[in-house]
Amino acid sequence: MTSEEQQKSDNRARPTTDEFREFVARGWAPRSTVRPPRAAVADFAARRRAAVSERFPCERLVVPAGGLKVRSNDTDYVFRPHSAFAHLTGLGSDREPDAVLVLEPVDGGHEAVLYFRPLADRDTEEFFADARYGEFWVGARPTIEDVEAELGLTARHVAEFEDAIAKDAGTVAIRVVRDADFDVTAEVDRVRADAAAATEDAAQSGTEADEELAAYLSTLRLIKDEWEVAQLRDAVAGTHRAFEAVIASLPEAVRRGRGERWVEGVFGLHARHHGNGVGYDSICASGDHANTLHWIKNTGEIREGDLLLIDAGVEVDSLFTADITRTLPVSGTFTEAQRRIYDAVYAAQEAGMAAARPGNKFSDVHAAAIRVIAEHLHDWGLLPEGVDVEGTLDPEHGQYHRRWMVHGTSHHLGIDVHDCALATREQYMDAELRPGMVLTVEPGLYFKADDELVPAELRGNGVRIEDDILITEDGCENLSAAMPRASADVERWIAGIWGRTTP
Ligand code: GLY
Ligand code: MN
Ligand code: MN
Repeated sequence: MTSEEQQKSDNRARPTTDEFREFVARGWAPRSTVRPPRAAVADFAARRRAAVSERFPCERLVVPAGGLKVRSNDTDYVFRPHSAFAHLTGLGSDREPDAVLVLEPVDGGHEAVLYFRPLADRDTEEFFADARYGEFWVGARPTIEDVEAELGLTARHVAEFEDAIAKDAGTVAIRVVRDADFDVTAEVDRVRADAAAATEDAAQSGTEADEELAAYLSTLRLIKDEWEVAQLRDAVAGTHRAFEAVIASLPEAVRRGRGERWVEGVFGLHARHHGNGVGYDSICASGDHANTLHWIKNTGEIREGDLLLIDAGVEVDSLFTADITRTLPVSGTFTEAQRRIYDAVYAAQEAGMAAARPGNKFSDVHAAAIRVIAEHLHDWGLLPEGVDVEGTLDPEHGQYHRRWMVHGTSHHLGIDVHDCALATREQYMDAELRPGMVLTVEPGLYFKADDELVPAELRGNGVRIEDDILITEDGCENLSAAMPRASADVERWIAGIWGRTTP
């Protein structure tokens, strides 16, 4: 049943008499006229928009937030705005479904106009009867004046959007971020088709132009501004706290059974309390589960003697997320075999971080880390007979080490956990690192329980260590440096937390 059908059905009947409407609309205190303060992000977002304006002069640019997505029946998923929209407006958390940012070409640049669904008057049906948007159901939304005060741009009712983008359509080129809101994209395509028909031009799909806009907006996030770095620091601070809560809860997770779910919940509690939530589904992988790179089922036991790999990040309200992995010995100390794996991964991470500096390429971080991984695998006699370190590192013929670390070492981090994903190879992998970039350094080694090429004592252990680093003028700063990493430091960290929490 669609939500429309549900509204019509008897079991969801709402009062509709004129008497009721009149009654429900009166007797309320006047709306507050106090406007929210200008958000700290407003000036930064304006600068980002100015860059977009310069790149696409005289064109109408449409950046939708996206709409609510049905989870089931009349229940929606929690809303999350499209990342480009969040970046260019400064709106985060669950704001604002169905909104569209339009950069309207004007003399000397663009005017930013945010079309959104403002607070409805109390004499509307929406006020009391609309379960998706109504104030009785989901709370009061901001007014047009509120949004203008908060963000420092022009705001209008979303009902004006269609006319606004159709205006002068024959002479103004238009681009849209296509994957944000399919209804808005369809509307833009219609405007283009109508304009082409009116001018007797062949209708252009515009898809290529749209993709160019989306790619540009993705690469605009490669260098973080000061405000964005502060958001990431906050996300990391929240993640640090959540990891400490997980460590404190480890003995209980073992005791309760289904411990992976327990620690997922503990992390999620802190993520939700500190910020908007988790930046991606937490990977809580104990024992052999750690060898499944994206183990998010988290259905397993956590057993004494195992390693627990937790890859999780707090996302703050602005939607910036941390992405941190720690591999923890469940009993508090690594076994000799576990330590051997762990220390190899740690050495690889150190090498990766040492390569993370301006002048080096993004891919140099991976090259440095994977060399250390390859050296250890070679020392342990795991590479095929006759293959040395250079042999396996040969990009064309070797790569045997990838059996045990199949993923890359780094990715950009920001509003998306895998940020700037539309950047080309030239702009990403092959690009020089520049101050203001934020990336992960996350080597790992994964020895599956059924891997007969590795010694039995190593099997069933997966280790990843992941930190979030900021490229600086002369190197990098590990934003998550306060979270212990070296094996002995991790053991002291756990002992310290257990010492405080268990008498
Ligand atoms: N959490 C996913 C990743 O580390 O890339
Ligand atoms: Mn991760
Ligand atoms: Mn990562």
